[in-house]
Amino acid sequence: SKIKMSGTITKDEMEELREAFQKIDTNSNGFINDSELTELFKEANLPMPGYKVREIIQKLDRDKDNQISFDEFLSIAKELKGGDIAKSFRKAINRKEGILAIGGTSELSSQGTQHSFSEEERFAFVNWINSALEKDPDCKHVLPMNPNTPNSLFTAVGDGIVLCKMINLSVPDTIDERTINKKKLTPFTIQENLNLALNSASAIGCHVVNIGAQDLREGKPHLVLGLLWQIIKIGLFADIVLSKNEALAALLREGETLADLMKLSPEELLLRWANFHLENAGYSKINNLSSDIKVKYFCPSNWRSSSDSRAYFHLLNMIAPDGSKADKPRIEINMSGYNEKDDLRRAECMLLQADRLGCRQFVTAADVVSGNSKLNLAFVANLFNKYPCLTKPEGQDLDWGKVEGETREERTFRNWMNSLGVNPHVNHIYGDLLDALVILQLYERIKVTVDWEHKVNRPPYPKIGANMKKLENCNYAVALGKTKAGFSLVGIGGKDLNDGNPTLTLALVWQIMRRYTLNVLEDLGDGEAANDDLIISWVNRTLTEAGKSSKISNFKDRSISTSLPVLDLIDSIQPGSVRYDLVKTGTLSEDDKLDNAKYAVSMARKIGARVYALPDDLLEVKPKMVMTVFACLMGRGMKRE
Ligand SMILES: *[C@@H]1O[C@H](CO)[C@@H](O)[C@H](O)[C@H]1NC(C)=O
Ligand SMILES: *[C@@H]1O[C@H](CO)[C@@H](O)[C@H](O)[C@H]1NC(C)=O
Ligand SMILES: *[C@@H]1O[C@H](CO)[C@@H](O)[C@H](O)[C@H]1NC(C)=O
Repeated sequence: SKIKMSGTITKDEMEELREAFQKIDTNSNGFINDSELTELFKEANLPMPGYKVREIIQKLDRDKDNQISFDEFLSIAKELKGGDIAKSFRKAINRKEGILAIGGTSELSSQGTQHSFSEEERFAFVNWINSALEKDPDCKHVLPMNPNTPNSLFTAVGDGIVLCKMINLSVPDTIDERTINKKKLTPFTIQENLNLALNSASAIGCHVVNIGAQDLREGKPHLVLGLLWQIIKIGLFADIVLSKNEALAALLREGETLADLMKLSPEELLLRWANFHLENAGYSKINNLSSDIKVKYFCPSNWRSSSDSRAYFHLLNMIAPDGSKADKPRIEINMSGYNEKDDLRRAECMLLQADRLGCRQFVTAADVVSGNSKLNLAFVANLFNKYPCLTKPEGQDLDWGKVEGETREERTFRNWMNSLGVNPHVNHIYGDLLDALVILQLYERIKVTVDWEHKVNRPPYPKIGANMKKLENCNYAVALGKTKAGFSLVGIGGKDLNDGNPTLTLALVWQIMRRYTLNVLEDLGDGEAANDDLIISWVNRTLTEAGKSSKISNFKDRSISTSLPVLDLIDSIQPGSVRYDLVKTGTLSEDDKLDNAKYAVSMARKIGARVYALPDDLLEVKPKMVMTVFACLMGRGMKRE
């Protein structure tokens, strides 16, 4: 009825459009909403920030009901055929084609949702986990998983142990061994393991909003794979940072400083690394007059350029040990498969060589040929980690003074932001906040309304005046902080944020995190304003009522360095949860205290508190982080009440 069939839409196109629409409309209610669209882009490896999705909806939504009907979809089909939105859709839908759609199991369909997942990822992760945890005695009950059994992975993660272990491999020492329930598991102890896994995953910066223990228990494929990919990626990327790996300076280009290099994301560094070796192989220069020059390089965002495997052959050949190091015997790459005519067979030959380096991981020949971006990225990251084959440049005038690892506080803030799913992902707390977009997204989490439509400049920024656009955002962010959020931002201007001033950026970020933490408490209570005193008296009261002798006078109380007040509080909230035989008491050495702190942090996560703080924060009694620990525990305790 509402459809105005313009003569330009043919019957075939109509069919195609209907098909596209149905693919997006996963709950088949005849409308596309923003979560479906977000999901589509995410599943297609083209994640898009919420505001962009909303923008698309707004553009297409003629009757302003915040969703798109098929009629609306169709009536703008003409515009859609050309414009950017159309391209994004098309790309997303095409990518999704290659992804296995599941659904139709009674439970999923009863919820009216159908999610898809990548069969290739499942296969890759099974093999990766099998080898990563091969020797772990605690995983013997589920490992090795059979990669050819569709459900093996989803069943294996159900008790939380494998997830805990993978998290701890990606960021060592995240999970205290003593807190994992391993024997005679019951639904309750499994729930605890899954809480521990999910809250620890958040703490290392995984975006786990909208995933619950129940989803993992049931092994919901798309959620399990989404979480595993984040965990695995964090581990693969851990050392692709200049401060931890100074040899990366070998990737500097003409006229660049170390500071420029530090701004690059791990993905960008990996690309550079791969191309660096290709150039040294003389490969990328061979045909640079030919039209397919690009094919000779690895290109960002998709790895199609590597799909003919020739670049990989060269890369392997460059990084294979040449025997010059005593601990690594020479491995000569057999290049005979290089001239194989068939892409798939050439890829297989290449992977046989990767196997000789112990690096046949993540990709199958088909994944190489199809250019699966996640899996090819993981394949290359693993090659880098095993055979970086870079030498730190010596004798050059490089300013190493500014190359510092991030502080614990910076890392915690960054992990917190990432766990809330900000976009772009924050790799560098200062460098990635310069346009304030992340700050503004965080404001939305603390109920500060952001006028995205009128007050915010969004990328792509113009070539000329880009920084002015970013600065405007920063000014807006600081103004909102002062007026709407009521933050104390004395002496902080947009410029400071835009300059990446550490002290002032942290001052703002901390106030947002603190507000976020208090908001959670207020939502649980009856909206009563939460503050430090409220938390401290709740802590004291809860401890007293449970008959514990610990008390805290404030968040700087030295007794906190023993972690005993925290452990006592955990045991008050969930009686019997703390194994006091494992807790050190009496006169404590620093090591004893750290031991307690590790136990306390993991225990807090295990009983369901999303604690971002680290054991050292308790040990050193860092008041900000201590406050968040007690606030999270209070939140957990209030849920009980
Ligand atoms: C976590 O990692 C640390 C350091 O590698 C290790 O000592 C600890 O036993 C691990 N814990 C678990 C649960 O695997
Ligand atoms: C190949 O490209 C490089 C840099 O892009 C250029 O300097 C060089 O002249 C090119 N080689 C040929 C043969 O054109
Ligand atoms: C908590 O207990 C400490 C120690 O007994 C006491 O000094 C403090 O006033 C109490 N704080 C609150 C807010 O109850």
